[in-house]
Amino acid sequence: MSNLKISKVAVIGAGNMGASIAEVLAFNGFDVTLKDRNMELVNKGLAVIKTVAESQVSFQAKRGKKEIARIESMGVSLTDEQKSVISSKMSADFTEEDARLLLSRVHGTDSYEPVRDVDMVIEAVFENFEVKKKVLEELSAVLSDRCIVASNTSSLGITRMSRHYRDPSKVFVTHFFNPPYTLRLIEVVPSVLSDMTLMEGLTGFLSGLKNHRGPMVPIKVKEMPGFVVNRILVPMMNEAALILDEGGASAKDIDQAMKLGAGMPMGPIELSDMVGLDIVKDVMEVLYAEYANAKYAPSLLVKKLVDAGKLGKKTGSGFFDY
Ligand SMILES: NC(=O)c1ccc[n+]([C@@H]2O[C@H](COP(=O)([O-])OP(=O)(O)OC[C@H]3O[C@@H](n4cnc5c(N)ncnc54)[C@H](O)[C@@H]3O)[C@@H](O)[C@H]2O)c1
Repeated sequence: MSNLKISKVAVIGAGNMGASIAEVLAFNGFDVTLKDRNMELVNKGLAVIKTVAESQVSFQAKRGKKEIARIESMGVSLTDEQKSVISSKMSADFTEEDARLLLSRVHGTDSYEPVRDVDMVIEAVFENFEVKKKVLEELSAVLSDRCIVASNTSSLGITRMSRHYRDPSKVFVTHFFNPPYTLRLIEVVPSVLSDMTLMEGLTGFLSGLKNHRGPMVPIKVKEMPGFVVNRILVPMMNEAALILDEGGASAKDIDQAMKLGAGMPMGPIELSDMVGLDIVKDVMEVLYAEYANAKYAPSLLVKKLVDAGKLGKKTGSGFFDY
């Protein structure tokens, strides 16, 4: 067990994931420095955090009423006393004041200066090796020897990446899921060069965090393309596209099959549209290249839809129209 002490954290990249990871850290009481390339991008990230925090306040405020409505919709009539017990049990534990405090803990910057003395950096810049390499080189010049560097990469090799940081033994993947403020899993991946005593401290630190739904749950994963979740989930979405392309069943029926037959909350076809077909194709291509195995070839249908600019929800159409 290492005596890893983390009190100051910085997040590099104030995009979708970086801003939301910063939100989780600030929710846990940490002062977080959020850095992007310029203040316009930083402010966009800060606006995302504000929206997330406000939406959680309103979600919490409505919890009790929603539960009462859910019970009554089943034909059960509740007494005023029962309603008040439910309301008090489900009373908001994240209020407007909590949201204001959370926001006050996030400090936006476009400079490395405030990053100098942090204990941990999480990088969430573009999923591009050259961009991440440059950030690691820049961090090498500013961070202290004790600092841990975590990457939120979904697919890039951490051993290869870590060699661009001054001390590769301090570099790990901490793969948060989208959105981090409600999804609780973090895949923690060491590189071949990582200091495994720090790994214990890192997973200990992460398991002490919580998001708006409960405690974060880090799992240890060996360095491998797709880690655990994407290695299973994305080929499953690709398989659904293959079945659709072969005329095996309609898109709606494939989704119904996996929801009613496998207990999935969302079918693989609608999930692909939500994630983005470009992402499905990119992840399959990484798996295909890394494992050199035909089972990971992206489906022709996914490739054709990507070529047509039909990437799913974000472009207004994919397998379905929106
Ligand atoms: N989006 C997801 O569902 C998801 C899920 C898990 C992991 N990830 C990973 O998280 C990382 C970020 O993804 P995202 O969806 O937030 O991307 P994004 O495009 O929303 O945000 C990336 C941010 O990084 C900033 N950036 C780029 N170069 C920079 C630099 N040199 N210095 C500072 N900031 C810089 C960009 O300006 C942008 O704001 C990627 O590695 C991605 O693979 C994404």
